[in-house]
Amino acid sequence: MFYDLLRRLSTECQNQDKGVYCLWYTVWPIIFLCSAKGLETFINNSKQLVKSFDYILLEPWLKTGLLTSKNEKWRSRRRIITPSFHDTQLLNNYMIIFNEQACILARRFDDCATQPNKTHDPYPYISACTLDIIVEAATGTNPKAQSGDEKNEFVEATVRITEILSLRSRSPWMWPPFIFDRLVIGREQKKVLKVLHGFSRKVIEERLTTFNAEQVKNGDDKKKSTRRLVFLDSLLTQMHAEQLSLDDIQEEVDTFMFEGHDTTAAALNFFCYLMGCYPDVQAKVHAEMDSIFGDDRERPCTMDDIQQMTYLDCVIKESMRILPPVPIIGREAQEDFVYCGQTIRKGTHLNIFIHGIHFDANIFPNPNKFDPERFAESSLISKERSPFAFIPFSAGSRNCIGQRFAGLEERVVLSTLFRRFIFRSTQAIEDIHLTIKGLLRTEVPIQMSTHVLHNKQEWLNDQRNIQHANIKQESLRQIYVFR
Ligand code: HEM
Repeated sequence: MFYDLLRRLSTECQNQDKGVYCLWYTVWPIIFLCSAKGLETFINNSKQLVKSFDYILLEPWLKTGLLTSKNEKWRSRRRIITPSFHDTQLLNNYMIIFNEQACILARRFDDCATQPNKTHDPYPYISACTLDIIVEAATGTNPKAQSGDEKNEFVEATVRITEILSLRSRSPWMWPPFIFDRLVIGREQKKVLKVLHGFSRKVIEERLTTFNAEQVKNGDDKKKSTRRLVFLDSLLTQMHAEQLSLDDIQEEVDTFMFEGHDTTAAALNFFCYLMGCYPDVQAKVHAEMDSIFGDDRERPCTMDDIQQMTYLDCVIKESMRILPPVPIIGREAQEDFVYCGQTIRKGTHLNIFIHGIHFDANIFPNPNKFDPERFAESSLISKERSPFAFIPFSAGSRNCIGQRFAGLEERVVLSTLFRRFIFRSTQAIEDIHLTIKGLLRTEVPIQMSTHVLHNKQEWLNDQRNIQHANIKQESLRQIYVFR
């Protein structure tokens, strides 16, 4: 309900050619920026990089890692960490991890496909896969969220901390630490954090021991390492030159795991769901997979394959426009500035309303329509669109550092799934009730059925499914009209 209200206000603002509205939380004004116009001057201003006060809730877990830090500390960390997302050897290693874990996910979906008439919630499967990926890419250790049969303390703690943080962020009376720490939930958070910190500390110390032993043997030649190098190795390599302590490394490893897990899970989950709603689009995705992989459902997806996924690229973008995993981000204005004709004062709490910006009809004509073609390179509108109109990964120098990593991960996982399966959604979008709990969530779990893909041409020509798509498109349209 509240989230619908935020979206409705944003649409009304845009219809009146305004880009900003204010809600009062008791005596605090909270400003929502919902227009791409003018966002550039704010988001690209190197003085406006400080996150809003609510990010402090993350600090017991992430301390002041890249996501939560500010000023000089943030600048220095961003410089140190950026190479880990561009190093070819590391990216190739991440690709191996994506492929291995995507195959396990596909095997788990195979089980669902044995009962095609039953529906299931894909989220727990996808979330376990993205957790295995991010933890292995960060630390080199796989927590086996997907394949472990036994109760896993770390996996359980990861799920629980997300729930606790989401609940606390929606309950301002729990914000002061002196209250929260005395509540049952506050004490539970302490226990959960002990498990999470214990895990990351242990893997860092183990990796450091191996790293030091290799340094003695091989010197600086990382090519001689027989291990699969990961994010943590990149930090350990810079440890002495950059004077990073083990605590510094730990906060960045924890941040990497937090930011890279649920965001990607939400993106993949929403993508599969939307494909279930739009079988005509899904059929084109299948056709593209067919043109790249032929009948080979097993071979790993490569960087070259990804270059060819031009249609999938448009569908991923349209899916993140319609359902962006991070719908709102917070900043605190560090100096007065003018946005859409309004002066916003220093110290104001600002929300950049990504989801609202993505539905601006002045930029995305007929914004409720799921239309991947808007992102096609040949589309004139796509060429003319402001780079601040579509910002699922934020924008400016404080944008998502993991954007490339996430893009590759999504394409490997999706190409593995859409070579093998057809997804059908059994719910109209108005039934899943969008809400915000840090990330974009649904009040009602998504339910889908999974079918083994036998013959793609048959699916392309299946008029019954296309008709089904039209019905679903109609229902998608309805929720965004805000009855
Ligand atoms: C589809 C997946 C993802 C989405 C939609 C996403 C989105 C975002 C957004 C909107 C921000 C800005 C947050 C803010 O200003 O408060 C952000 C920041 C960040 N993201 Fe991502 N992200 C994704 C995946 C990842 C992955 C896989 C990683 C790591 C491997 C990652 C690491 C980070 C970090 C460290 C920051 C903080 C950057 C800084 O403040 O300098 N993200 N992400």
